[in-house]
Amino acid sequence: MSDLKGKDILHGNQFSKKDIDAIIKTTANFEKALKGKDSLTLLKGKILATLFFEPSTRTRLSFETAMHRLGGGVVSMASGESSSAAKGETVADTARTVSQYADVIVIRHPRIGSAKEAADSAPIPVINAGDGAGQHPTQALLDIYTIYKERGSLKNLTVSMVGDLKYGRTVHALVELLSLFQARLYFVSPGLLRMPEEITSHLKEKGIEIVETEDIGEAAKASDLIYMTRIQKERFTDLSEYEKTKGRYIIDGEFLRRLKKEITILHPLPRVDEISTEVDGYPGAAYFRQVRNGVFVRMALLAMVLGKR
Ligand code: NCD
Repeated sequence: MSDLKGKDILHGNQFSKKDIDAIIKTTANFEKALKGKDSLTLLKGKILATLFFEPSTRTRLSFETAMHRLGGGVVSMASGESSSAAKGETVADTARTVSQYADVIVIRHPRIGSAKEAADSAPIPVINAGDGAGQHPTQALLDIYTIYKERGSLKNLTVSMVGDLKYGRTVHALVELLSLFQARLYFVSPGLLRMPEEITSHLKEKGIEIVETEDIGEAAKASDLIYMTRIQKERFTDLSEYEKTKGRYIIDGEFLRRLKKEITILHPLPRVDEISTEVDGYPGAAYFRQVRNGVFVRMALLAMVLGKR
């Protein structure tokens, strides 16, 4: 039985190295167990509620797929507008209500701290699937599983994180996990979209080597892996700032030819224009494998918080 039983999953900083090892092992076991099978029966009778107050394709569908593949059931709120949130219900009340129906909640909401509010109010495990520009810990865990599979180890890595480091909740969560493995980090962004100061200073306190630059070429040359991100248009209060930064970094065939080495490329998706489709067939382009890994990781997390692993 893992230590995650009954726990909420809210922030990248809540995990120890031991937790990551356990999650990777459990994930790999589910990936193996599902080979040649449509589904398992481990969570038969359990119900997952997905509450998404923001757009999502991968995160919601992969959680729901994961629950079905484990033999459990899913209830889902179609959108924030069609729920009682539109009538003024608080996240805390919604979460407490839904916990009368379901065994575990996955929530995405545009406000930082909203998932924590839901967790404080609901007596069942709550999983943060993105709280505004805050955190996205399950994405970070599937990123880590993908890095482990693609690179064979989490040790001794140099990683470039590129794009919108200010508003990108996936990078905010992933740096926490990479810091457990003492990865060297390049933060590549336009000046307006730098990694928040409280995150860089907290990483530096942990002894993590960080280089901040606007030059993707320099960073890529030194890196084993590039983690590309979308500029988060919906988070800008001033759209002229978005216009100034969009299209700034693009990985295409020409970029890879100039790089003259194999590099692993990850992206949480969706992409806009930051990775050209001609890169999709490149051996190191791992972003669609990353999507697939998301189902196995979320199977592991659901089983673990429900005390079945
Ligand atoms: C990310 C998100 O929602 O934060 N997408 C995802 O969950 N895979 C990244 C993004 O929207 O750019």
